Amino acid sequence: MAAVLLSSSAFFFFLTTIFLFSISSWEVEAHPVSTLINKKLYNNLFLHKDDTACPANDFYTYRSFIEATKYFPRFGSTGSLATRKREIAAFLAQISHETTGGWATAPDGPYSWGLCFKEEVNPGSNYCDSTNKEWPCYPGKSYKGRGPIQLSWNYNYGQAGKALGFDGLKNPEVVANNSLIAFKTAIWFWMTEQKPKPSCHNVMVGRYVLTQADMAANRTVGFGMVTNIINGGLECGIGSDARVNDRIGYFKRYASLFGVQTGPNLDCENQKSF
Ligand SMILES: *[C@@H]1O[C@H](CO)[C@@H](O)[C@H](O)[C@H]1NC(C)=O
Ligand SMILES: *[C@@H]1O[C@H](CO)[C@@H](O)[C@H](O)[C@H]1NC(C)=O
Repeated sequence: MAAVLLSSSAFFFFLTTIFLFSISSWEVEAHPVSTLINKKLYNNLFLHKDDTACPANDFYTYRSFIEATKYFPRFGSTGSLATRKREIAAFLAQISHETTGGWATAPDGPYSWGLCFKEEVNPGSNYCDSTNKEWPCYPGKSYKGRGPIQLSWNYNYGQAGKALGFDGLKNPEVVANNSLIAFKTAIWFWMTEQKPKPSCHNVMVGRYVLTQADMAANRTVGFGMVTNIINGGLECGIGSDARVNDRIGYFKRYASLFGVQTGPNLDCENQKSF
C-alpha cells in the first residue's frame, strides 16, 4: 500500500469521516427489525454460534441479518409490536432448528445452539428433482441444505436466485459462502407464498385465512402451521415428533427473551401436510 503523508487536520477529517460513515451507514437507521432486536439480544439468542465447535463460526453476523431484512420491508414490520416481535422470534426459532448444534444436555441448554451449521454435512443426495424442467439442475451441483433456512432442492435454489439476483442453479455454494445472501434466502423463503402453502410471514402475522382444504386437513394458524410449511411432509400429522418439539423449544425460549407470548397451535401433530 502506498504511504500517504496527511496533515494532522486532514487526518482528523479522515478519521471523523470514517467514524460518521460507519455509524450512519446502517446502525443508527431506525429500521423496524434492528429496533426490535439489537446486537446484544441477537448474541443472547445464539450463545454458541461463534464457538470453534460450530462449523458456521463467524458466518452469521448480526450485521448480515439486519442488512438482509432491509430487502424485505414487511418482515418484522407488520401488525402490532407483539405481532412483530412474535414473527421475528418464530423466524429465528425455525432457522435455529435448521442449523442447530445443540443436544439435550448441551451447555446453556439445547436451545442456545442455533446458527451453528451453514451447510448440510452428510447430505443423502444432491436434492436434484430432475423432473423439474423449469429449474434444471446444473451438472455436478448439489442443492443440499445451505444457509439459515437450509435452502434445498434445485427449484428452491433457482427461484431464490432469480428473486435475489444470483445464479442459484450454477452457483448454489454462494448460499453458504456469503452471509448476506444466506440470510436473504432464508427471509425470501419466509416471505414467499408457494402454493398451495401460504407464506410463513402471513401465518405469523395473522393475515392468513384458513381454506376449506386447511379445515379438512385440521390445520390451524400458529407456529405449528409454519413448521408444516417448512417440513410438514416429514414432521406433521405423525404424533409427537422430536424435530417439531425442537422447533417449539427454540420458539419458547426466544419468545420469552423478546417478552412476547407464543400464541396457540404450536405443534402440527394433528395436521395433515400441505
Ligand atoms: C464456496 O466455498 C466452498 C467451500 O466451502 C468453495 O469450494 C467454493 O469455491 C466457494 N465458492 C464461492 C463462489 O466462493
Ligand atoms: C384436530 O386437531 C386438534 C388439535 O389442534 C385435535 O385435538 C383434534 O383431535 C384433531 N382432529 C382430527 C380429526 O385429527
